[in-house]
Amino acid sequence: MKKSASYLLVPFSAVLALCIGCGKPEPPPEPVSNEPPKPLVMVTEAGFPPYEYMENGEVVGVDIDICRAIADQLGRPLVVVSTNFEAIIPMLVQGDADIAAAGLTVTEERKELLDFSLSYATSGIVFISRKGEEYKDAASAKGKRIGVQTGTTSDQFCVEEVGVVPTRFDTPRQAAEALKAGKLDLIIVDIDPARNIAGNDDTLVISSELLCMEEFAIALKKGQPNLLASINGALESMLNGGKVYASLAKHVAHCAYDFKPASTPSEASAEAAKADGAAGAGETEKASE
Ligand code: ARG
Repeated sequence: MKKSASYLLVPFSAVLALCIGCGKPEPPPEPVSNEPPKPLVMVTEAGFPPYEYMENGEVVGVDIDICRAIADQLGRPLVVVSTNFEAIIPMLVQGDADIAAAGLTVTEERKELLDFSLSYATSGIVFISRKGEEYKDAASAKGKRIGVQTGTTSDQFCVEEVGVVPTRFDTPRQAAEALKAGKLDLIIVDIDPARNIAGNDDTLVISSELLCMEEFAIALKKGQPNLLASINGALESMLNGGKVYASLAKHVAHCAYDFKPASTPSEASAEAAKADGAAGAGETEKASE
């Protein structure tokens, strides 16, 4: 009798301590499932080195390294889907993919449609033109034949800032081929793919200033706070542990061009001014040839 009374008392005081400790009832235990974990479907457009590019029939790059770490943390296998860039946002909105990582710039318009993680990279857009025909700002590009990747911030910049309806391509590389063939005067593209395209090409030149600064983040359909928190947690530990930078350095080296962190437009002008107006100064210096 005595024994069972004190036996009863222990769990009661333990429950009480728990209640005092957290002020909230414990959540019910997660149901145990024998189902295999659901794949985490990442959507991208694999023509954007070093963030995503094809190698031996496989999509590789910084964004894939980041998403693999997120999937590992979630205990889910990663599935990478590559599609046209302009299809990425509709796919997320319709629930056909879980996350997008595509050197995707955070913009106010996109924030209306999607949620974004922490930023994991700072970037910006530039012009590429044929050597000897250089363009330095939106005003100088007015009235020119311009190529962009469809649906990108370069596309938006061309329409809104330059005031030109561009020729649209599926990949920046295709736009560059049209430029080299003389069908365009310039293309607009993010700085890293620009270095990949023009860094080792003597016939092309990258504008000496970033046209604007941008932040890259991972996007997901709105209203998924748990997934967003896991993405941010994985990103934070990768950023703090230098893993994003290491992945960038590895893929840049692999794509064979020099990497310099994006500087602000004013820093880039200061550098260009220091170099006495020499073309290709500072930010967009050519890769060592
Ligand atoms: N940063 C630009 C944007 O978000 C271009 C991204 C292109 N990405 C790609 N994987 N092709 O609009």
